[in-house]
Amino acid sequence: MIARTLYLDKDILKILDQRLLPSTVFYIDCKTKEDTFDCIKDMAIRGAPAIGVAAGYGMYLASCEKEFNNISEMKKYLDKAGKYLISARPTAVNLFWGVNRILNVVKKYIGSNIIELKLRIREEANKIYNEDIEINKKIGENGAKLFNKKSTILTHCNAGALATAGWGTALGVIRSAYNQNKVKMVYVDETRPYLQGARLTAWELLQEKIPCVLITDNMAGHFISKGEIDAVVVGADRIASNGDTANKIGTYSLAVLCNYNKIPFYIAAPVSTFDIKISDGKKIKIEFRSSDEVVLINKKHVAPVNMKALHPAFDVTPHELITAIITEKGVIKKPSVKTIRAILGKRVARH
Ligand code: MRU
Repeated sequence: MIARTLYLDKDILKILDQRLLPSTVFYIDCKTKEDTFDCIKDMAIRGAPAIGVAAGYGMYLASCEKEFNNISEMKKYLDKAGKYLISARPTAVNLFWGVNRILNVVKKYIGSNIIELKLRIREEANKIYNEDIEINKKIGENGAKLFNKKSTILTHCNAGALATAGWGTALGVIRSAYNQNKVKMVYVDETRPYLQGARLTAWELLQEKIPCVLITDNMAGHFISKGEIDAVVVGADRIASNGDTANKIGTYSLAVLCNYNKIPFYIAAPVSTFDIKISDGKKIKIEFRSSDEVVLINKKHVAPVNMKALHPAFDVTPHELITAIITEKGVIKKPSVKTIRAILGKRVARH
């Protein structure tokens, strides 16, 4: 079993520091929303669903960190805490979603008292955590059905147990398919610059003895063109109403490769990753991270000192390049406003 990504222990949020993996398993104690914010911003915890769950707990910590005179003072404080937590990373919509789940509870129990409201917030944060694992298992089940022979699957970044409360989205599909004897080999993109593939996905797969091999990102085209890969499965950070999908930088290139070489390109994501307020991928804000994360590896320069680098953390894949989006509610083939609506229901707005 993979170490838990995060958990609440007597009002302390324990977050597995993924920056130290795979060599060290160490949990950071978060006692305040500031501790939680730092873990999200500095990527001790990462992956869209995981930061959504962390945000829920961060809101609970915010509700405990101060004595409130009355419930409306508490509500004001939590509204501000929510805005603060959301500002940690701009692309993954699950972060907003996690905060909003808690703010909806605050609204619902505004007529109660402070002790009751705190309990309800903790209950909701735990619910978000537990639901995430169930949702991922369902995504895994739905995704595994897409494979009818023993396949070689390529994945990018880490959309596994470590990127969620457990099981994973893209890696959850691979886990479920493997349990049904449908996986021959997993090609793991190392995922420059943060190396989520080399450090995290490889760590997860090796622990579960799922056959896997590491490749650098620029090798993907070679292996795909040689016919060695049957499908690519990746996660998502935000999906627009028409299916355009933001995910880890390098995802778009993989989708183009799949399209050119006529192999399926799948996105695996929970319904909470859909941002139905935006019409298309052009409206997704892309996080730019520090140049240091590109020019340094393990705090050592791999480029000349003073060299500047660009570091968009995500890119957007147009929906036309996506064969299907695998959700807990079902598989959305040929994603478009229409096909997404058919699965998500009327919540998808017309733009
Ligand atoms: O920058 P990260 O590591 O948070 O990026 C993670 C990804 O891009 C994942 O593919 C995505 O969040 C889905 S995780 C289930």
